[in-house]
Amino acid sequence: MVVLEGKGLGKSYEGEKIIENVSLRVEKGEMVCLLGVSGVGKSTLFNILSGLEMPDEGDVFLKGECVTGKSGKVGYMQQSDLLLPFKSVIRNVMTPLILKKTDKKAARREAEAILEEFDLGECFDMLPRELSGGMRQRAALARTFLTGCDVMLLDEPFSALDAITRGKMQDWFRTVIKRHGLSTVFITHDIDEAILLSDRIYVLSGKVGCITDEILVDISERDSSSEDFIRLKKEIIEKVK
Ligand SMILES: Nc1ncnc2c1ncn2[C@@H]1O[C@H](COP(=O)(O)OP(=O)(O)OP(=O)(O)O)[C@@H](O)[C@H]1O
Ligand SMILES: [Mg+2]
Repeated sequence: MVVLEGKGLGKSYEGEKIIENVSLRVEKGEMVCLLGVSGVGKSTLFNILSGLEMPDEGDVFLKGECVTGKSGKVGYMQQSDLLLPFKSVIRNVMTPLILKKTDKKAARREAEAILEEFDLGECFDMLPRELSGGMRQRAALARTFLTGCDVMLLDEPFSALDAITRGKMQDWFRTVIKRHGLSTVFITHDIDEAILLSDRIYVLSGKVGCITDEILVDISERDSSSEDFIRLKKEIIEKVK
């Protein structure tokens, strides 16, 4: 079943076309990656899919309902984590529940449970600046989870991390997403990350961004040293060029 779909999306800024005729879909429970070079329009496309921005052309559908320009329908973790600097971790993570008018005590209990799951059990009362980059990203992900949306858009969720932390976060992330049965689209520039995490990859490229390739990641082992992995990586490098 298709949960999120963009059809024929186009957007210009100040008369300059950024993306054109972009169509993509996400199936239930799927992890889809949007891969493309810097400036090609990936975040612009996410702003449209999340309803924060109106496209000039095309529409966005969530479970068949037209939601073009309607925000709050999908969970969205923007490129910068946007944790509120003056609020404790727990209060940051509770925000989506408070916005939905959940009772404060119930919101706190839910936020505590998700922070424990995300290995942030020691950090409830810390401020974002007291956390490491990896912890901040986990806190931002926890907050996105608590929007309660089963479709999530994640813009470069691991970009701020060193290679070792990033590797650990990637393993953990795929497990958590699959356990919760969420449907996700995430953005990355990193081809290894795209292959390790996703079920399907869209390549956004061109002077005016459009989807130039769709790749099914059907490798048996998600191991960057396996033959399948290396073959697929070569194939993708050719396509992203
Ligand atoms: N609000 C805006 N007003 C004007 N131009 C914008 C706006 N948002 C994005 N752009 C332009 O649109 C183009 C695509 O930007 P976008 O942020 O979507 O790229 P990206 O693929 O996410 O890049 P990166 O990988 O560096 O995050 C850029 O040229 C950018 O300057
Ligand atoms: Mg971006």
